[in-house]
Amino acid sequence: MSVLGEEVTAGLEFPPGFAWGASTAAFQIEGATTVDGRTDSIWDAFCRRPGAVAGGDTGEPAADHYHRFRDDVELMAELGLGVYRFSLAWSRVRPDGGAVNPKGLDFYERLVDALLERGITPWATLYHFDLPQALEERGGWATRDTAYRFAEFASSAAERLGDRVPFWSTLNEPWCSAFLGYAKGIHAPGRQEPRAAVAAAHHLLLAHGLGLAEIRRAADVQAGITLNLYPVRAASDSAADLDAARRVDGLQNRLFLDPVLRGRYPEDLLADLEPFGLGSCVRDGDLALIGAPIDQMGINYYRGYEVTGTLRPGVEPGGLEWVGADGIGFVPDAAASVTHSGWSVQPEGLTETLVRVHREYPAVPLYVTENGAAYDDSVRPDGWIDDVDRVEFLAAHLRAAHAALAQGVDLRGFSYWSLLDNFEWAEGYSKRFGLVHVDYRTQVRTLKRSAHYYADVIRDNAVPV
Ligand code: NOJ
Repeated sequence: MSVLGEEVTAGLEFPPGFAWGASTAAFQIEGATTVDGRTDSIWDAFCRRPGAVAGGDTGEPAADHYHRFRDDVELMAELGLGVYRFSLAWSRVRPDGGAVNPKGLDFYERLVDALLERGITPWATLYHFDLPQALEERGGWATRDTAYRFAEFASSAAERLGDRVPFWSTLNEPWCSAFLGYAKGIHAPGRQEPRAAVAAAHHLLLAHGLGLAEIRRAADVQAGITLNLYPVRAASDSAADLDAARRVDGLQNRLFLDPVLRGRYPEDLLADLEPFGLGSCVRDGDLALIGAPIDQMGINYYRGYEVTGTLRPGVEPGGLEWVGADGIGFVPDAAASVTHSGWSVQPEGLTETLVRVHREYPAVPLYVTENGAAYDDSVRPDGWIDDVDRVEFLAAHLRAAHAALAQGVDLRGFSYWSLLDNFEWAEGYSKRFGLVHVDYRTQVRTLKRSAHYYADVIRDNAVPV
């Protein structure tokens, strides 16, 4: 097929069996927020808070995937996807974080069976930002008990689906859950409590460790975690800028990579976070659980950061923002183009991130579990969505992934974010990341130009040069 006006004659080939996928998350696509016993998650509650989400948007109707999953699986088959990464809504499976709701698990079983019928490998993420609101009311991730409730959720999901779902991720982007949710307050539950955010980070990691043990007990699968990682560069080699880069890299990347892959927190971060009580959250045995071997690590990559030690007005030296929770003094990349989210397009950062994890940490198979971009897509009168910008973004990042392979990185797959346009958290439905356009009024799905491009890449197992 020719999409950009050229026939694919030669390209950058990927290894045989490379896992081509697309990703979604429950709250962002499912809708049906009160159906079949589901109770509120923190995002349902957060959406009701005036001003919290752009346009006052909520988890309804999203892409109504709960009722339309069969059609969506057909779209995946049309794209030729090998893997589909989705998440389970905790408050469907265990409403209010309590007893199992068989109807909730039934939905995911129907989805998994439909995928398998079409030869698509299911990849389940257990936690993608949607804590049952009832657990938040008991303290949320700032409370240690939440990690044990997560282990129960993991166990019930893996017992029901572990025989058919070969890939499992405990958590998606725990940095966002902890710091956007409990420090910055722009994600649910919308708290601005730095100590709670640091406690949340540890309890999320503990949940990963406890959940991993439950998955292992219930099933023989490839289990791991997905982290959002960023290349962080100092704006200059001044001591202040270098130290800012160390701190931001610490909080964004090493706070999660080190305990999971090395079984310990970095010393400099323990010191940075001492005023926020990190050390006091850690109990005997926690790090052994958190650092238990994983079978795969998922990396979500969107952009890199250049940071300066010059504090923005209002940032307190010694506060969590200063450590890097909200990024201190980020320098916009003037040379890069930006997506509709305002994020700089920096494909080389994907290579850098993959190579860094490969070189600096113990060996583990890596997967890009998310990479993608929002653009302000317009639908032409004839229905065609000519998202050339997304095609270029994707092509550049696929070349960057290939460059990492060429440097010896054990990269096994790539999943685009996202299969469908969906609810982009605090941005509501205003940002579209999909390969497939969703008309939220009619729920009509339309493949964008990028979907056709990606289908060609998958078919050829190669990126056109
Ligand atoms: C990461 C998150 O996992 C996903 O939920 C989000 O929509 C994308 N990034 C885009 O921001």
